[in-house]
Amino acid sequence: MGNVNASIDGKKVRVRDGATILQAAEFSGIKIPTLCHIKDQLPAGVCRVCVVEVEGSRTLVGSCHTPLSEGMVIHTASPKVTAARKVIVELMLTGHTGDCVIDTNAENCKLHNLASDYEVGAPRFNVNAPRFYPAEESNPYVRRNMSKCILCRKCVLACSAIAHKNILGLAYRGFKSKVVTGSDGPLTSEVCRDCGRDCFR
Ligand code: SF4
Ligand code: FES
Repeated sequence: MGNVNASIDGKKVRVRDGATILQAAEFSGIKIPTLCHIKDQLPAGVCRVCVVEVEGSRTLVGSCHTPLSEGMVIHTASPKVTAARKVIVELMLTGHTGDCVIDTNAENCKLHNLASDYEVGAPRFNVNAPRFYPAEESNPYVRRNMSKCILCRKCVLACSAIAHKNILGLAYRGFKSKVVTGSDGPLTSEVCRDCGRDCFR
Protein backbone atom coordinates (compact mmCIF):
# COMPACT_ATOMS: atom_id res chain seq x y z
CA MET A 1 0.00 0.00 0.00
CA GLY A 2 1.41 3.40 -1.00
CA ASN A 3 1.25 6.84 0.52
CA VAL A 4 -0.81 9.90 -0.29
CA ASN A 5 0.38 13.51 -0.13
CA ALA A 6 -1.94 16.41 0.54
CA SER A 7 -2.15 19.75 2.29
CA ILE A 8 -4.30 20.41 5.35
CA ASP A 9 -4.54 23.99 6.58
CA GLY A 10 -1.31 24.75 4.74
CA LYS A 11 0.53 21.83 6.34
CA LYS A 12 1.99 19.12 4.08
CA VAL A 13 0.74 15.69 5.11
CA ARG A 14 1.78 12.23 3.98
CA VAL A 15 -0.29 9.26 5.11
CA ARG A 16 -0.98 5.71 4.01
CA ASP A 17 -3.28 5.23 1.06
CA GLY A 18 -6.85 4.70 2.26
CA ALA A 19 -6.63 7.01 5.27
CA THR A 20 -9.52 9.40 5.72
CA ILE A 21 -9.12 13.17 5.86
CA LEU A 22 -9.92 12.99 9.58
CA GLN A 23 -7.20 10.41 10.20
CA ALA A 24 -4.70 12.47 8.21
CA ALA A 25 -5.60 15.58 10.17
CA GLU A 26 -5.27 13.76 13.51
CA PHE A 27 -1.92 12.35 12.37
CA SER A 28 -0.77 15.91 11.66
CA GLY A 29 -2.02 17.30 14.96
CA ILE A 30 -4.93 19.18 13.38
CA LYS A 31 -8.18 18.90 15.32
CA ILE A 32 -11.47 18.44 13.52
CA PRO A 33 -14.58 18.21 15.72
CA THR A 34 -16.61 15.00 15.57
CA LEU A 35 -19.77 13.77 17.28
CA CYS A 36 -20.73 10.45 15.68
CA HIS A 37 -17.25 9.09 15.05
CA ILE A 38 -15.67 6.30 17.10
CA LYS A 39 -11.94 5.93 16.51
CA ASP A 40 -10.96 2.82 14.56
CA GLN A 41 -14.58 1.95 13.74
CA LEU A 42 -16.33 2.28 10.40
CA PRO A 43 -17.67 5.84 10.14
CA ALA A 44 -21.38 6.37 10.69
CA GLY A 45 -21.23 9.71 8.89
CA VAL A 46 -24.45 11.05 10.38
CA CYS A 47 -23.64 14.16 12.38
CA ARG A 48 -21.85 16.22 9.67
CA VAL A 49 -19.93 18.20 12.28
CA CYS A 50 -16.63 17.02 10.79
CA VAL A 51 -17.17 18.75 7.43
CA VAL A 52 -14.17 20.37 5.75
CA GLU A 53 -13.56 22.33 2.57
CA VAL A 54 -11.65 20.62 -0.25
CA GLU A 55 -10.44 22.96 -2.98
CA GLY A 56 -12.18 22.11 -6.26
CA SER A 57 -15.12 20.39 -4.56
CA ARG A 58 -18.53 22.01 -4.96
CA THR A 59 -19.69 20.94 -1.53
CA LEU A 60 -18.17 20.48 1.89
CA VAL A 61 -17.20 16.88 2.62
CA GLY A 62 -17.41 14.77 5.75
CA SER A 63 -13.83 14.24 6.85
CA CYS A 64 -14.54 11.07 8.85
CA HIS A 65 -15.63 9.11 5.79
CA THR A 66 -13.83 10.78 2.88
CA PRO A 67 -10.51 9.21 1.90
CA LEU A 68 -7.57 11.51 1.36
CA SER A 69 -6.60 11.77 -2.32
CA GLU A 70 -3.27 12.71 -3.82
CA GLY A 71 -2.84 16.48 -4.06
CA MET A 72 -5.96 17.41 -2.07
CA VAL A 73 -5.87 20.90 -0.57
CA ILE A 74 -8.06 20.95 2.54
CA HIS A 75 -9.24 23.70 4.86
CA THR A 76 -10.65 22.59 8.19
CA ALA A 77 -11.59 25.95 9.64
CA SER A 78 -12.41 28.25 6.71
CA PRO A 79 -15.33 30.71 7.03
CA LYS A 80 -17.48 28.33 4.95
CA VAL A 81 -16.69 25.40 7.26
CA THR A 82 -17.29 27.45 10.41
CA ALA A 83 -20.63 28.72 9.08
CA ALA A 84 -21.75 25.19 8.20
CA ARG A 85 -20.75 23.78 11.60
CA LYS A 86 -22.64 26.55 13.36
CA VAL A 87 -25.86 25.68 11.54
CA ILE A 88 -25.34 21.93 12.10
CA VAL A 89 -24.91 22.46 15.85
CA GLU A 90 -27.87 24.85 15.94
CA LEU A 91 -30.06 22.28 14.21
CA MET A 92 -29.01 19.65 16.74
CA LEU A 93 -29.93 21.97 19.59
CA THR A 94 -33.33 22.61 18.05
CA GLY A 95 -35.91 20.50 19.78
CA HIS A 96 -33.59 19.70 22.66
CA THR A 97 -35.42 19.96 25.93
CA GLY A 98 -34.24 20.10 29.46
CA ASP A 99 -31.68 21.81 31.55
CA CYS A 100 -28.50 21.05 29.58
CA VAL A 101 -27.13 24.57 29.77
CA ILE A 102 -27.26 24.75 33.55
CA ASP A 103 -26.57 21.05 34.08
CA THR A 104 -23.58 20.56 36.39
CA ASN A 105 -22.21 18.02 33.89
CA ALA A 106 -22.61 20.37 30.94
CA GLU A 107 -18.86 20.72 30.49
CA ASN A 108 -18.73 16.98 29.71
CA CYS A 109 -21.19 17.40 26.84
CA LYS A 110 -19.49 17.57 23.44
CA LEU A 111 -22.50 19.28 21.86
CA HIS A 112 -22.58 21.91 24.60
CA ASN A 113 -18.85 22.53 24.15
CA LEU A 114 -19.21 22.78 20.37
CA ALA A 115 -22.06 25.26 20.76
CA SER A 116 -19.82 27.30 23.00
CA ASP A 117 -16.77 27.05 20.69
CA TYR A 118 -18.81 28.13 17.66
CA GLU A 119 -20.77 30.74 19.61
CA VAL A 120 -24.12 29.20 18.78
CA GLY A 121 -26.86 30.98 20.68
CA ALA A 122 -30.47 29.94 21.20
CA PRO A 123 -31.70 28.03 18.10
CA ARG A 124 -33.63 30.20 15.62
CA PHE A 125 -35.69 27.27 14.36
CA ASN A 126 -39.02 26.30 15.86
CA VAL A 127 -40.18 22.79 16.59
CA ASN A 128 -43.82 22.21 17.36
CA ALA A 129 -43.25 19.30 19.71
CA PRO A 130 -39.72 19.05 21.14
CA ARG A 131 -38.47 15.53 21.69
CA PHE A 132 -39.20 14.72 25.30
CA TYR A 133 -38.72 11.43 27.12
CA PRO A 134 -38.69 10.87 30.87
CA ALA A 135 -35.30 10.04 32.39
CA GLU A 136 -34.77 6.28 32.81
CA GLU A 137 -33.43 5.16 36.17
CA SER A 138 -34.34 1.46 36.17
CA ASN A 139 -30.86 0.23 35.30
CA PRO A 140 -28.26 0.30 38.13
CA TYR A 141 -25.44 0.73 35.61
CA VAL A 142 -26.85 3.19 33.11
CA ARG A 143 -28.98 6.31 33.53
CA ARG A 144 -30.58 7.44 30.28
CA ASN A 145 -32.26 10.66 29.29
CA MET A 146 -33.29 10.32 25.67
CA SER A 147 -34.48 13.94 25.53
CA LYS A 148 -30.79 14.79 25.28
CA CYS A 149 -30.05 12.28 22.52
CA ILE A 150 -28.78 13.77 19.25
CA LEU A 151 -29.08 10.45 17.39
CA CYS A 152 -25.37 10.21 16.74
CA ARG A 153 -25.73 6.39 16.94
CA LYS A 154 -22.42 5.99 18.78
CA CYS A 155 -24.11 3.83 21.40
CA VAL A 156 -25.64 1.60 18.73
CA LEU A 157 -22.25 1.22 17.04
CA ALA A 158 -20.42 0.56 20.32
CA CYS A 159 -23.01 -2.03 21.33
CA SER A 160 -22.78 -3.88 18.02
CA ALA A 161 -19.24 -3.43 16.68
CA ILE A 162 -17.31 -3.24 19.96
CA ALA A 163 -19.35 -5.09 22.60
CA HIS A 164 -20.96 -7.43 20.01
CA LYS A 165 -24.24 -7.39 21.97
CA ASN A 166 -26.60 -5.73 19.47
CA ILE A 167 -28.91 -4.65 22.27
CA LEU A 168 -29.44 -1.12 21.01
CA GLY A 169 -31.05 -0.16 17.73
CA LEU A 170 -32.76 2.75 16.05
CA ALA A 171 -36.56 2.76 15.78
CA TYR A 172 -39.25 5.05 14.37
CA ARG A 173 -38.69 7.62 11.65
CA GLY A 174 -37.75 11.23 11.14
CA PHE A 175 -38.16 13.46 14.16
CA LYS A 176 -39.51 10.51 16.16
CA SER A 177 -36.35 8.42 15.67
CA LYS A 178 -35.17 6.95 18.92
CA VAL A 179 -32.49 4.58 20.22
CA VAL A 180 -34.35 1.65 21.71
CA THR A 181 -33.82 -1.75 23.25
CA GLY A 182 -35.93 -4.53 21.77
CA SER A 183 -39.32 -3.12 20.83
CA ASP A 184 -38.73 0.07 22.82
CA GLY A 185 -38.74 -1.62 26.21
CA PRO A 186 -37.21 -0.30 29.44
CA LEU A 187 -33.44 -0.34 29.82
CA THR A 188 -33.32 -2.74 32.77
CA SER A 189 -30.23 -4.55 34.02
CA GLU A 190 -31.53 -7.72 32.34
CA VAL A 191 -31.20 -5.90 29.03
CA CYS A 192 -28.09 -3.76 29.36
CA ARG A 193 -25.27 -4.44 31.79
CA ASP A 194 -22.18 -2.44 32.47
CA CYS A 195 -20.04 -3.75 29.63
CA GLY A 196 -17.58 -0.90 30.17
CA ARG A 197 -17.69 0.35 26.59
CA ASP A 198 -18.60 3.93 27.46
CA CYS A 199 -21.33 3.64 24.88
CA PHE A 200 -23.40 6.55 26.14
CA ARG A 201 -20.52 9.01 26.39
S1 SF4 B 1 -28.01 7.94 23.29
FE1 SF4 B 1 -26.71 7.04 21.67
S2 SF4 B 1 -27.41 8.02 19.77
FE2 SF4 B 1 -28.17 9.28 21.47
S3 SF4 B 1 -26.58 10.87 21.77
FE3 SF4 B 1 -26.12 9.18 23.19
S4 SF4 B 1 -24.64 7.89 22.08
FE4 SF4 B 1 -25.64 9.23 20.54
S1 FES C 1 -17.98 12.76 12.77
FE1 FES C 1 -18.10 12.75 10.60
S2 FES C 1 -20.20 12.72 10.17
FE2 FES C 1 -20.11 12.63 12.36
